[in-house]
Amino acid sequence: MGRGIPVRSVSARLSRVALAVAAAVAVSAVAWPVYGPSAFLTSAAILAPLGAVTMWLAHGLASHRDWIGGIRGRLGALAVLAAAQLVVAVGLFAVLMFVSNHDAFFMTVATGYAALIAVAAARLVAQRTLGDLDAVRSAVASVAGGSREVTVPVHGRDELALLAADIEAMAARLAAEEHARRELVASVSHDLRTPITTLQLIAEGLEDGIFEPERVRDRLHAIGTHVRALAALIDDLFELSRLEAGDVHWSMQQVRLDELVQETIEAMRPHADAGGVHVRSELRQPLAHARGNPEQLQRVLFNLIQNAIRHTPADGSIVVRAEPAPGPAVEIEVADSGVGIDPAAGDRLFEPFVQGPSRVAGETGSAGLGLAIARAIVTAHGGRIWLAQSDPGTRIRFSLPAA
Ligand SMILES: Nc1ncnc2c1ncn2[C@@H]1O[C@H](COP(=O)(O)OP(=O)(O)O)[C@@H](O)[C@H]1O
Ligand SMILES: [Mg+2]
Repeated sequence: MGRGIPVRSVSARLSRVALAVAAAVAVSAVAWPVYGPSAFLTSAAILAPLGAVTMWLAHGLASHRDWIGGIRGRLGALAVLAAAQLVVAVGLFAVLMFVSNHDAFFMTVATGYAALIAVAAARLVAQRTLGDLDAVRSAVASVAGGSREVTVPVHGRDELALLAADIEAMAARLAAEEHARRELVASVSHDLRTPITTLQLIAEGLEDGIFEPERVRDRLHAIGTHVRALAALIDDLFELSRLEAGDVHWSMQQVRLDELVQETIEAMRPHADAGGVHVRSELRQPLAHARGNPEQLQRVLFNLIQNAIRHTPADGSIVVRAEPAPGPAVEIEVADSGVGIDPAAGDRLFEPFVQGPSRVAGETGSAGLGLAIARAIVTAHGGRIWLAQSDPGTRIRFSLPAA
């Protein structure tokens, strides 16, 4: 059983055919004032059926792609159709309008030639375009096959050239992402491996009884520290992957930044005191409320202040500032008087596992995820985080939309 033709497609085709007939009548009407009504009727009688048949066939070609497979074949058929209707129109005029044999002959020759040239010209244009299309197709196929260094040899500025540029950009992006993922896996493995190796050594030492009885307690304590650091690292990794996947289900509310800053500073104070670092806040009033999730925003502040404490020598100071910004937005910064960050490190420090030369070697609970998590949270809030210029020390600043 054949497939039925959908009613909508038939009515669309009929309306196109009607348009072609109307155009034939309109064009023939030009003959009326000059040669009278019978010239109009003859002309319309020739053009209208011709237009109708051509349009019917062209519509069929366009909507039944399986009639002639391939764009090449379909364009070729269209060119032949257009040329054929030209020849038929001229031929019919010649016969029905009783043109002399001599004139009819030369009209037919000229029209036949024009039709041939038209088909050849259409073929030429189509060939270039279809060549580009082939290049695009094989580029996509090679990306699908795993290749990441593709150049699509399409020139000019048409839609295919734009598509080719998009494909090249897509392949480059895929390559960068795959590279980043490999690096990430290597970093994760390394950061998990190091404490696990230490734990293994301690466990073996305990098993073999090589530690003095009074050192065993220290070893057990060390085990606890390493295990906590590992658990924190895994939590951070899990959190980061959720944030980066856009899996955020926080309740957003109006957040009073002055309270949030104050609370976080107080929570961090024992830590700062232990390092001999002074922490204070500077809140520029009137400060709009921010729109966000308080726990998450506190986590950002916590990560930034923790970094500041870690990289500021004793007697140094840390200032947490919050101020209104255009937008309306609020901007918050954590500034310290510590060792500072090379501006060339720039945005890279916000990538996961990227650590600067100032990182404290061998420190537990430090894997280069703090700033990455901070950035992911700020971005999920519709804000931005960046390294602001500071000499001496470091200033990390972020913005949040105001509530
Ligand atoms: N306040 C700061 N002063 C100096 N360096 C900093 C500061 N904050 C961050 N950094 C640098 O940025 C790197 C990345 O920070 P982060 O993502 O929090 O990772 P981590 O603290 O685990 O090393 C750190 O290793 C450090 O080199
Ligand atoms: Mg950190």
